[in-house]
Amino acid sequence: MAEFRRIVILTGSGISAESGISTFRDKGGIWSKYKVEDVATPEGFARNPKLVLDFYNMRRQVHHGVQPNPAHLALARLEREHTGDVLLVTQNVDQLHEIAGTGQLIHMHGEVFRAWCMACEKRCAWRQDLDLETACPACGTTGAFRPDVVWFGETPYQLDRIGAALLACDLFLSIGTSGTVYPAAGFVKLARKAGAHAVEINLEPSEGVSFFNETVHGFAGVEVPRYVDRLLRGG
Ligand code: OAD
Repeated sequence: MAEFRRIVILTGSGISAESGISTFRDKGGIWSKYKVEDVATPEGFARNPKLVLDFYNMRRQVHHGVQPNPAHLALARLEREHTGDVLLVTQNVDQLHEIAGTGQLIHMHGEVFRAWCMACEKRCAWRQDLDLETACPACGTTGAFRPDVVWFGETPYQLDRIGAALLACDLFLSIGTSGTVYPAAGFVKLARKAGAHAVEINLEPSEGVSFFNETVHGFAGVEVPRYVDRLLRGG
């Protein structure tokens, strides 16, 4: 473990699959049932805001009451027990990393339990359904209050901080992501440029598998605790 001082971890929907949340691109995944351009773009929202709000109301419902699995818990343990820096960057909009106890966390694609107002730009925690009549609690405007999730064509959150961490890290772990959506899919290349050791833990080889030094293919709930154990033992 002394070998790695600065760890950056990227997670995707595969880490939450064993908690009961669907992935996007696996068989039966979210994008096999909905069109990205209809429910996850600013243009889709402008065209049919009700469809988009209903989609996220459905997704918010799914997220109520879900619990972290051993993979989330192992990453929280890594942060707790590692003596160097650990930054977890998740593409997931669920709260499972924070429920598991991770503190240094960036939700680069936003959070399903937050909302923001396009009129006054205020963001806040939000657990209820949204509809076209929902008024922003800060400015009272209706029709401009939307889920605080990043849609295709929008800029993910905290890219500067993530980029700086990647360029300074010596271990990069990518867990449960297909490696198809940029900029996250390019993080491994930045980390490698910085000289980091890059490890993929995923059910199957991702799109970017060739960029990793080490790959572990299996269930996150099994492989992540095993890998974290190994790291903390210094092996
Ligand atoms: P994907 O659905 O593209 O990929 C999920 C990956 O997790 C796949 O490669 C699966 O093989 C793997 N997987 C499934 N179950 C697993 C398990 N139990 N253990 C380990 N791996 C498992 O989801 P993401 O890569 O997260 O963005 O998708 C990236 C982004 O695309 C999402 O954040 C979302 C989506 O559109 C936006 O909506 C902006």
